[in-house]
Amino acid sequence: MKGLFSAVLASAITGVFALPSPTENGPITARAAQAACATPVTIGSGNPFASRTIYANKFYSSEVVSAAAAMTDTALAAAAKKVADVGTFMWIDTRAKIDIVEDTIKDVPCDHIAALVIYDLPGRDCAAKASNGELAVGELDIYKSQYIDPIVTIFKKYPNVAIALVIEPDSLPNLVTNSNLQTCKDSASGYRDGVAYALKQLNLPNIAMYIDAGHGGWLGWNDNLKPGAKELATVYKTAGSPSSVHGFATNVAGWNSFDLSPGEFSKATDAQWNKAQNEKTYVTLFAPELKSAGMPSQAIVDTGRNAVTGLRKEWGDWCNVNGAGFGARPTSDTGSSLVDSFVWVKPGGESDGTSDSTATRYDSFCGKDDAFKPSPEAGAWNQAYFEMLVKNAKPAF
Ligand code: GLC
Repeated sequence: MKGLFSAVLASAITGVFALPSPTENGPITARAAQAACATPVTIGSGNPFASRTIYANKFYSSEVVSAAAAMTDTALAAAAKKVADVGTFMWIDTRAKIDIVEDTIKDVPCDHIAALVIYDLPGRDCAAKASNGELAVGELDIYKSQYIDPIVTIFKKYPNVAIALVIEPDSLPNLVTNSNLQTCKDSASGYRDGVAYALKQLNLPNIAMYIDAGHGGWLGWNDNLKPGAKELATVYKTAGSPSSVHGFATNVAGWNSFDLSPGEFSKATDAQWNKAQNEKTYVTLFAPELKSAGMPSQAIVDTGRNAVTGLRKEWGDWCNVNGAGFGARPTSDTGSSLVDSFVWVKPGGESDGTSDSTATRYDSFCGKDDAFKPSPEAGAWNQAYFEMLVKNAKPAF
């Protein structure tokens, strides 16, 4: 039987499923059969990741497998294939993507947790252009009835599957620091109402939610910690303090080190105003603020692309940072009781934004010196960037 397994398949199986012993390589169907939970999952208030591995969804896995197949360097291709086994979040970034949600959650084994991102607010990405979404300011009813409601219907069909959600990256943080922009002023009420609606409707026993809280270089500034915590907690309370909310997500699609000390920008002239020089410190500073504002304060931290530091000219450079590498693999062994898990939220290889300056969604950050070029539209696959992430991965694949 052993000889019939390809190296990739064998590693996928050992990586993802507990092999039945002593028949080391039994039929795949037998392993799949042990997978699903037989009864409804109740996550409760503990760490949802403590006894569950993040599910490697087919959507990202197949992007990675195709990318590896297109590589001519066989050693690199072999390393690249292993990325397909890493549990990575699936972004529901349009209504059309709802079609693949069911496929993403239906086969999740009982010792795993599905992971998805809720990301389709009206007037999305109000302080940048690269990820402007399909819904315009004012289309909150569409967000509710054609985006959140159908997702809830699917989740309700699968009460036996544990699901982790990151809620609307960048939205509430933008209201804290970019409220001077007309676009963010226009988006504000739709963001608050939309996120509150999402939290309320998605409040199911098998779901754990983390609201996006930017990163240390954003809400970590001394003056932003309290207003940031207040913004998140107010929306959480408006939603009726849903018990499925566990806390906040940091560094989503970001580049900050988890625990580099002194931090990457600690020598900058303005460093005195920001003690959150790495994400671990940010979590340590933000969690108590959130708690005193009345919201649960456990964190998850995106370590998907943060292996290499010292690449950005400025802390706020967010687009396709050149020289980046895949970072620490998802694990609940984080060394911090405040951090439930390291997670891969941004699927590495998918672009942050186009470098084509003539495109409607071109954002000048994607044309900066430290941004990788050429890069396709946000979310589209960038083969060269993916190869770079594999080569620079720490730990190596
Ligand atoms: C960006 C894109 C979005 C994509 C996500 C994950 O935010 O705007 O379309 O799904 O990144 O790659």
